[in-house]
Amino acid sequence: MRHIHVFPDTQSLERDAADLFVERARASIADHGAFTVALSGGSTPKRLFALLAADPYRSQLGWEKIQFFWGDERSVAPDHADSNYHMASEALLSRVPAPPEHVHRIEAEKPDPAAAAAEYAATIVSVFGGAELPRFDLILLGMGPDGHTASLFPATTALHEHKALVVANRVEKFHTWRVTMTARLINNAASIAFLVEGEEKAEPLREVLFGPYQPELYPSQLIHPSNGDCHWFVDEPAARLIPHSERTSA
Ligand code: 6PG
Repeated sequence: MRHIHVFPDTQSLERDAADLFVERARASIADHGAFTVALSGGSTPKRLFALLAADPYRSQLGWEKIQFFWGDERSVAPDHADSNYHMASEALLSRVPAPPEHVHRIEAEKPDPAAAAAEYAATIVSVFGGAELPRFDLILLGMGPDGHTASLFPATTALHEHKALVVANRVEKFHTWRVTMTARLINNAASIAFLVEGEEKAEPLREVLFGPYQPELYPSQLIHPSNGDCHWFVDEPAARLIPHSERTSA
């Protein structure tokens, strides 16, 4: 089911996203003894991670029961400023008692991105006990102004992948490779949370949520969990074109 939560400012958006993170973690740990979460890159999650790393959130989380993954990664070393792993490590993982063996980063700096993608898919399957199509408890996503999510960019081959869990994706506009989870894997999650802030996201967000289905142009349209919840956390500037009747009331 889709929920569109609109917030007057970024602070309240991030607090609500942190509440969802804690609630999903507690429910997952109570249900099956672990919480599997995929993190995203970008500026909004950075502030969410900083919140989670401090009280009142920090002490509410069973850190030793959390398995951390990433939805996508850039082809840079793990200590590079552009690395999604690096950002999460600085803002969150280095500040909390997360066991290093529960932190599964994508080794997208490897010279063969397709091999890095295959290795990451194998890591995911192994942590999920051999499941053919793993079901994450929570996947955090952002949306770019071009409608991309994770590293599913407009008009790229990864949009057409219906079998693999993780693929290497050539992003010609950046002259680079990315490694990304596929829509097939993301859509099997129990919960998905998109964090979307800023006026520049208003038009693409309207198209993604209410426009004609054109995932080649707006890849975020590929994300609709088959048996789970999709939460959109949107600040007022990004929600400018979302009719009030479509917003989930608090
Ligand atoms: C990445 C991210 C990407 C991000 C969006 C939105 O590696 O770049 O995973 O998909 O979520 O680009 O980023 P912002 O929230 O910073 O706008």
